[in-house]
Amino acid sequence: MELQTSFVHSSCLFFLSVHTILFMFIYLSFPQCASAGILGNQTDKLALLDLKSQITEDPQGLMDSWNATLNVCQWPGVTCGHKHQRVITLDLKDHRLAGTISPSIGNLSFLRILDISDNSFHGVIPPDLGQLIRLQTMNLSFNFLRGEIPFTLSRCVNVVNLILDHNILQGHIPTELGSLTKLEMLYLKNNNLTGNVPNTVGNLTSLREFYISYNDLEGELPETMTNMRSLIELGVSVNSLTGEFPPALYNLSSLTLISLSFNKFRGRLRTDFGPAFPNLQRLYLANNYFTGSIPASLSNCSDLLRLDIPINNFTGNIPLSFGNLKNLLWLNVLDNQLGSGAPDDLNFINSLTNCKMLEFLDIANNKFGG
Ligand SMILES: *[C@@H]1O[C@H](CO)[C@@H](O)[C@H](O)[C@H]1NC(C)=O
Ligand SMILES: *[C@@H]1O[C@H](CO)[C@@H](O)[C@H](O)[C@H]1NC(C)=O
Ligand SMILES: *[C@@H]1O[C@H](CO)[C@@H](O)[C@H](O)[C@H]1NC(C)=O
Ligand SMILES: *[C@@H]1O[C@H](CO)[C@@H](O)[C@H](O)[C@H]1NC(C)=O
Ligand SMILES: *[C@@H]1O[C@H](CO)[C@@H](O)[C@H](O)[C@H]1NC(C)=O
Ligand SMILES: *[C@@H]1O[C@H](CO)[C@@H](O)[C@H](O)[C@H]1NC(C)=O
Ligand SMILES: *[C@@H]1O[C@H](CO)[C@@H](O)[C@H](O)[C@H]1NC(C)=O
Ligand SMILES: *[C@@H]1O[C@H](CO)[C@@H](O)[C@H](O)[C@H]1NC(C)=O
Ligand SMILES: *[C@@H]1O[C@H](CO)[C@@H](O)[C@H](O)[C@H]1NC(C)=O
Repeated sequence: MELQTSFVHSSCLFFLSVHTILFMFIYLSFPQCASAGILGNQTDKLALLDLKSQITEDPQGLMDSWNATLNVCQWPGVTCGHKHQRVITLDLKDHRLAGTISPSIGNLSFLRILDISDNSFHGVIPPDLGQLIRLQTMNLSFNFLRGEIPFTLSRCVNVVNLILDHNILQGHIPTELGSLTKLEMLYLKNNNLTGNVPNTVGNLTSLREFYISYNDLEGELPETMTNMRSLIELGVSVNSLTGEFPPALYNLSSLTLISLSFNKFRGRLRTDFGPAFPNLQRLYLANNYFTGSIPASLSNCSDLLRLDIPINNFTGNIPLSFGNLKNLLWLNVLDNQLGSGAPDDLNFINSLTNCKMLEFLDIANNKFGG
């Protein structure tokens, strides 16, 4: 009896404990209770107890009531589906938990949301998490997870948000992740990832936010990225990426944020830069080796809020047409080769007076005359 009642919803508990003769009555009147009682199984409970056994610190006592007398579905942080009483959400974020992630989580086969972010989990990401084929969100961010990203995560074919940032993950970005075609958010930033960004990211045609900044990635961003038509935010700053401004990006007209800062990008920006990014709000290119002029066509990006391009080798001048950028808040061109020493070099300042929102302007360490 304990085995069954521990899995039924609290409202069903009374009936079941009175007498099993009522079982038929319950089955006919409360099918949702009966299915929990009859069909419910121990899998989820064993998996969660195994997870608990790997927790070494729980200062807030979150798991104190994770015990046999209480229905799993009532354990703090656990949510079950109404119909089948199986665990669909495990939300343990921000509870100062320490320990390793038990591979048994892979047995929670109905899990849709796994959020253990903002704790002190260490050790590796168990490859067994790849068994979670119903998973939609995996958030392991802000922990101390190390080792490689298991390629088996590519089997979580329904995952929409894969959030692994702020850990100590090493090795390459697995090429297999390219099969996660439902992905909308992929956060791998602030880890210790190395190697190239794999060509297969081009298969992520639903991806909206892609952050791989603050790693040790190298090489050029792949041409296949031209297929990432849903991309809105791209953050690759603070790596060792090379090549010209990635040509594939010019086809991604939905981009609102492009951050390539602190890398080894070089070469010129195309003159049709502005029309390629009609929705651009933030362009961060600081600390690279860009040359040539600042494209005047950027003044067509009417949503532009922040243009941050210091410590490069841009030449020419700030386009007078920047006066059209009504929303511009931030313009930083510190440490470039702008200006020619001519007396009219600073005429752009007059046009910038049309940018009523402008809060920050840094033009120091250039060659401006006047
Ligand atoms: C429990 O559920 C799991 C996952 O759905 C299934 O593989 C297993 O066979 C079930 N066990 C029993 C005893 O019903
Ligand atoms: C998880 O499932 C595997 C395979 O069915 C089983 O061997 C293992 O004992 C399960 N783990 C727990 C904690 O129940
Ligand atoms: C299980 O947890 C409940 C809720 O915290 C508590 O009242 C009960 O005493 C616990 N049972 C055992 C056996 O620890
Ligand atoms: C992931 O967790 C972090 C830290 O708790 C949180 O800030 C972020 O919003 C979460 N993202 C998703 C998609 O759940
Ligand atoms: C991760 O990278 C940081 C910064 O590059 C470095 O200080 C740290 O030693 C690296 N950690 C590991 C475990 O590789
Ligand atoms: C993904 O992309 C690669 C290279 O661009 C390609 O060879 C592969 O067939 C694609 N499909 C999947 C499911 O990864
Ligand atoms: C990218 O855009 C250019 C025009 O700027 C076009 O010629 C090219 O076919 C596009 N590439 C893809 C893969 O759509
Ligand atoms: C800019 O060009 C000069 C001269 O060619 C070179 O010494 C310097 O390293 C370059 N700086 C950057 C940030 O590219
Ligand atoms: C973009 O801006 C440039 C320079 O300000 C201007 O000549 C051009 O007509 C604008 N429109 C397009 C589509 O480039």
